[in-house]
Parts: sequence; C-alpha cells; structure tokens
Amino acid sequence: MKVKLPTTIIVFGARGDLSKRKLYPAFFDLYLKDVLPDKFKILGVSRANISSDEFGELVEKSISNNHKKKSISSKIHDFSYSQTYISGVFEDIKTYKKIAEDLLKIDEKFGFCSNKLFYLAVPPKYYETILKNLKKSGLTIPCSKEEGWTRVLIEKPFGSNYETAKDLDKLLGELFLEEQIFRIDHYLAKETIQNILTFRFTNTLFEPIWSNKHIEKIQIKLLEKLDVVKRGAFYDGMGALRDVGQNHILQILAAVTMENPKELNSENIREKRTELLLALNPISKKELSLSAVKGQYEGYKKEEGVTPNSKTETYFKLKAFIKNKRWEGVPFTLESGKALSETKTEAKIYFKEKKPCFCAASHKEHVHQNIITFRIQPDESISIEFYVKKPSLTMDYLKKNLCFKYGGDVLEGVMPDAYEKILFDCMVGDQTLFTSTKEVLASWKFINSILEGWKDKDPIIYKKGSDGPEE
Ligand code: BG6
Repeated sequence: MKVKLPTTIIVFGARGDLSKRKLYPAFFDLYLKDVLPDKFKILGVSRANISSDEFGELVEKSISNNHKKKSISSKIHDFSYSQTYISGVFEDIKTYKKIAEDLLKIDEKFGFCSNKLFYLAVPPKYYETILKNLKKSGLTIPCSKEEGWTRVLIEKPFGSNYETAKDLDKLLGELFLEEQIFRIDHYLAKETIQNILTFRFTNTLFEPIWSNKHIEKIQIKLLEKLDVVKRGAFYDGMGALRDVGQNHILQILAAVTMENPKELNSENIREKRTELLLALNPISKKELSLSAVKGQYEGYKKEEGVTPNSKTETYFKLKAFIKNKRWEGVPFTLESGKALSETKTEAKIYFKEKKPCFCAASHKEHVHQNIITFRIQPDESISIEFYVKKPSLTMDYLKKNLCFKYGGDVLEGVMPDAYEKILFDCMVGDQTLFTSTKEVLASWKFINSILEGWKDKDPIIYKKGSDGPEE
C-alpha cells in the first residue's frame, strides 16, 4: 500500500481555502495511515510573503481543525513543520526558478530525484498561466524515464463551457501526456459513489432489472443548506450547473447508469463512463422551459463579490433522457441547489409499479413501488424499499426497508475522505477516479446547450431554507 519512491507535492494556492480545508488534512491522514513515502515533502507556493515556519503554523492549524484528538498533536506539529514554502506570483517566471532551486535542494537532501506532483489548487483563471510557466521553466521534465515522474492535478471546473474545456485540454496536451494529467472530480473518489459500481456489478441480482423494462424513473439530488458562503466572487458567473452539474451530478448519473466495464481497470471504466455521457440527449432551447428550472436564492445578489443584477443560478432542476437501448424513455431528474432546506446527496431508483397490486381490494389504489436509494451523504447508506404481508386475516401489506449503513461497528473510522483517495491514487498513478478528456468534453456537450439557452434567462427567486423554486 505504501508509496515507495520519494515524492514532492508542489501546491499552487498553498494558502487557499481548498488547501487548508482538504489537502493538508488529507495528506496528514495518509501520513497517519503510513502510506506516504518516507521521503515526502509539500512545497507550498503562493503570493504571501511568509516563512516556511509560518507556513508550518498554517498547515498545523488546518490539520488541527480536522483532528480534535490531543494524543496526535505532536504528530501534527512534526508533520506540519517539516513542509516548506516559497512566495511568488504565478505570472512571474522567477517564481518557477525559485521552485526549481528549492526542488533541487529537496532532492539533494533525499539523495534521490523525487517524483513531482504539481497541484493547481487555484481559481481556474490561473491554470493557463501556471501551466505555460511550468513548461517554460522545464519543471515538468522528469529526471529520466525511470526516475522522478512529473504529474499535474487540476481541480474542477475544467473550463467554463465546451469550447474553453477543449482549449484547456489542448494546452494540457501540449505540455503533458494523458497519463500525467489528473483531472479532479472529488465525487468520483467518494466511497459511497464507488460503492454504486460495486453494488451494481458484483450483485448479479440487480443487472437483469437495471433497465427501462423495470425502472420507471431515476432522481439524483445534491442539495445543500449552505449558501455560497464567502465564495461569491468565484461562484458568480459560474453558477450551480457548472459548479456541480457538469461534474458531480453527471458522475453520479454515470455510476448509476453506465454499462458494466467487465474488468476493473481505469481504461474500461473511463470508457464506459464516457459512452454513457455521450448518450445523454441534449436539452434543446425549445425544450428548456419544460425540462429545466433555473433558480436563485433570495439575497444572493447582495452576497460579497456578486454583481447586483446577477442572473447566475444557485439552483437547477433538469429532466434528462439517455439515448440508448437500456435507458430509452426513462426520465432522469437532476437537481441541485444552495441555501435549501436540507443537505442531502442521493440517487433514487424507482422501479415500475406492480399493477394490479397483489393485495386486498381495500389497497388496490396504493402505489406499490420498490425504490433503491444510494445515499451519498450524510447518513451514508444503500437501502431498498419493499413490501411484505402484514400478519392478518387478509392480504394486507407492510412497507419495509432493507438498509446497509456505513458507520457503526467495523466501518467506523475506515472511510477515507475523497481527497485522501485522490492524492493516493495520483501518487500511485491510478487514473480510474479521474476524468478523461473525452469524458469532460462529453459532459460539457450536454451542459452547453442548457447554458446557452439560459444566457439571458432570469432565474426564479426562491426563499432561503426552502425546497427551491415552486415550479
Ligand atoms: C464543490 C463545489 O465542488 O463541491 C461546492 O464547488 C460544493 O459548491 C461542493 O459545495 C460539495 O462537495 P461535498 O464533498 O461537500 O459534497
């Protein structure tokens, strides 16, 4: 399990929200699990003029916010203060010269040319600048074929529409080989989403009924109570569809509906996800008013960094169809929003109703429908609703639930955070849980027509803490 070769992670945006909330805690958890290489270093890069010790303090704080156990505080301290930092602006080539000098020093200490992982934890507007400067400075050239690989990790959103995603991909293709590029969608790395594949493809029970013959409809929801918090400037102009629709929601959809990849390897799985995304029926401008809802929560326009007349959606609900033999005719509802009444991500599979129902005449009108729910978060679980006979003198029924829940006894504490999985997989070179270039473009193709149709459309305003716009 342990990553063996010395590795250095160069984090651009080292003082940013993502680094503090997700990256440092995830690296520390990997360190606690003893899977990081013995020779390991984070080299933080950002604009602020701070020392490596001050950076250590920042890393320590971010990890401690996640770990309340006193017993490991000295481990947190040692881990945090063994990392290093340089200040520099991303536009200036001198920054990359400084990085090169520091990397050389790190490698000299290791006595080995370490693997280099460049993590772009920065707003997308910096991607091009950083990528071009990485190339100019020669930092992405490995020491040799055998030693010191270089890889790049890019956060979503990958582009802001089909065209810009294509341009970004072209640029990446000029700098890196596909096996060096790791495009992140952290939803792919969530245990509960990986488990959808395990559930579907290891239990032969479900495959024969997993189609339009037996399934009536599927709903996928990613609902959040939180509003945009302090991310107004980043969120405005992007909106919910780009933020979570093009990526997280479509990846859940792919997990629920893709064909069986047969073999557990990155190429097959990515190929099957892509096939599915390509089969999504684009929603035309004409269909938009019936098939899509665009919403914005009340007060959004007053958030810091948001333009006062913003038309950005903080909520969407779409009715989509997949054009293939398995899913022809099955409606998929895809919904997401901020500032809603609850936080919940799930996929619900509604099976066709049994008609007429096999029950007493008095219940004839009741809808007998089996439902499988993949609860991604919170209260992670997989459950199946089914019916049994109620002990009585007549054919009455009872609705029951079979449920597998994470947490509790054996599973407690074992579930890795998505970012741990991402970082670990990138270090071992497994691309299964990263999106391929074809996949990214396929998902943009579907989203693009909605974005275009919505360009001038005013969103429906909904109350904070509600269930979204009343349709
Ligand atoms: C991010 C989005 O990718 O995913 C956020 O930018 C969203 O807006 C978040 O809140 C949800 O992720 P998670 O893991 O908290 O469900």
